[in-house]
Amino acid sequence: MAITDLRGTKFLVTGAASGIGRALAHAASDRGARLVLTDLQEEALDEVVRSVRERGGTVLHSAALDISDYEAVTAFARDVHEACGSLDIVANVAGVSVWGTVDRLQHEHWKLMVDVNLMGPIHVIENFVPAMIEAGRGGHIVNVSSAAGLLALPWHAAYSASKFGLRGVSEVLRFDLKRDGIGVSLVVPGAVRTPLVDTVQIVGVDRDRPEVRKLTQRFVRHAATPEKVAERIVTGILKNRFMVYTSFDTRFGYWWARKFAPPYNLVMQAANDYFRRVVGTK
Ligand code: NAI
Repeated sequence: MAITDLRGTKFLVTGAASGIGRALAHAASDRGARLVLTDLQEEALDEVVRSVRERGGTVLHSAALDISDYEAVTAFARDVHEACGSLDIVANVAGVSVWGTVDRLQHEHWKLMVDVNLMGPIHVIENFVPAMIEAGRGGHIVNVSSAAGLLALPWHAAYSASKFGLRGVSEVLRFDLKRDGIGVSLVVPGAVRTPLVDTVQIVGVDRDRPEVRKLTQRFVRHAATPEKVAERIVTGILKNRFMVYTSFDTRFGYWWARKFAPPYNLVMQAANDYFRRVVGTK
């Protein structure tokens, strides 16, 4: 009962107010999925709901909430199940990003990464997947991790804690849920041109410094559009693919890391030294 057609499916997107989540909501709706949308930002979420409906799409339910708040996700799931029954597709897209070295990262940064990027998707899985199993129609789970869920990118320890964690959850569920006909996709974007690029916090670093601006601009130049990422995700669901790459660099980097560990170690160290040189001084 793998998903081969989105028409009529009940499709949840978290982080739907912006970037990849918003693009995924539109891409899914354009293929006939009926949406359940959530995000922390109420006004921006309402705007997305309006635009989906204007394009002729269906939003079954939407509510603003913090996915790191277990009680809030539980209440949301209760409302969704009451209003429209069990879902077919659950896409964990919402996330935040903070980078920094261990001497600068505060406890709150580590906690925010794990609470939002790892516990958030877990709260969603806990609250929605048992009803999918019970319904027996199969379905699909999409977890948006990151290249930083595969590779040791400089200063990404806190972010990678959450994104490697989400990858672990996904790898296990892929096998656990197969017999229930529920597929799992792990999305591992490299750079994507979304508001996240402007909001990523580099602790202790002034992002307006010319060197840092240059680095950010380079990141944005190589970045994929959220629409392209959304298309890849939709294809990943329809073809029941576990790994969903959105750019060649991540696919190649991960392949290389697994096949050629010693040069990977050298390159990662060089990237780290480069980062320290360019961003490291305040
Ligand atoms: P974005 O900032 O455009 O969208 C993220 C959305 O998540 C926002 O609408 C935000 O309000 C929502 N959100 C944040 N914290 C939340 C919370 N506690 N509860 C509910 N909603 C919350 O960012 P983007 O780029 O679309 O990010 C989507 C996902 O893609 C994230 O998980 C991010 O880590 C991941 N990603 C993004 C990359 C990029 O270069 N933009 C690269 C790799 C992964």
